[in-house]
Amino acid sequence: MLPNKTTQVELTDKDDLSSQAMEAFNTLRTNIQFSGDHVKAIIVTSCTPNEGKSFTSFRLARSFAEAGKSVLFIDGDMRKSAFSGRYHVSAPTCGLSHLLSGQKSEEETIYPTNINRLDVVFSGPSAPNPSALLSGDAFSRLIALARAHYDYIIIDSPPLGPFIDSALMAPSCDGAVLVIESGVTHYRLAQGVKEQFEKSGCRFLGVVLNKADAKHDPRYGYGSYYSQYGKYGSY
Ligand SMILES: Nc1ncnc2c1ncn2[C@@H]1O[C@H](COP(=O)(O)OP(=O)(O)OP(=O)(O)O)[C@@H](O)[C@H]1O
Ligand SMILES: [Mg+2]
Repeated sequence: MLPNKTTQVELTDKDDLSSQAMEAFNTLRTNIQFSGDHVKAIIVTSCTPNEGKSFTSFRLARSFAEAGKSVLFIDGDMRKSAFSGRYHVSAPTCGLSHLLSGQKSEEETIYPTNINRLDVVFSGPSAPNPSALLSGDAFSRLIALARAHYDYIIIDSPPLGPFIDSALMAPSCDGAVLVIESGVTHYRLAQGVKEQFEKSGCRFLGVVLNKADAKHDPRYGYGSYYSQYGKYGSY
């Protein structure tokens, strides 16, 4: 892990996941591990807003950390990140928008957390032009540095339907995971997003079907890749 210049932040997570949901994240983590040891930097996106990218990406990052891997979680949503509020981060932090605009260094924007082996890059103040910030080479420099210090880098991002940001981050990544809200996203839209990732040279790892009703739909029973997150706490 990177020797940090920053002070540790406390993340207070009020999610109360069911054992089935925990199991689903462990399965997702294992599937990614079996994609090969060259798959280290993983971007999580969706077609439309609100499908569960932030929840899924952070839980995935935690799952890797809990399994003994060193992890950097990057909140790559510089448009409307809810991360700091959701995990009750009280101290002011620098973030990705500071780094990409040249105001801060990597060492000043990577924060250790109270979760063992999990460091975080916050999104920073919302930027008027995130895609312009991502067009420079600062993001790829961050990922290159992180590769040398962490086992896994998990990146949350804005939805690819309305915004280009995740496609701009994708070439620096080894794989992409698409979160799909059950019963909401049309498969043609999902297919278009998958093709857009493949064109960017980033391997498409698969889909997480989120908010599926595991209790009432037998297709999502035990052993499936997906799950309903039973007792999902409010933020
Ligand atoms: N499996 C789930 N079960 C119940 N609620 C969920 C689940 N996943 C996410 N949510 C809820 O759905 C909402 C959207 O989740 P989240 O913020 O993770 O989505 P997002 O795709 O990151 O949204 P945005 O596009 O705005 O960044 C949140 O209120 C979250 O609490
Ligand atoms: Mg989000």
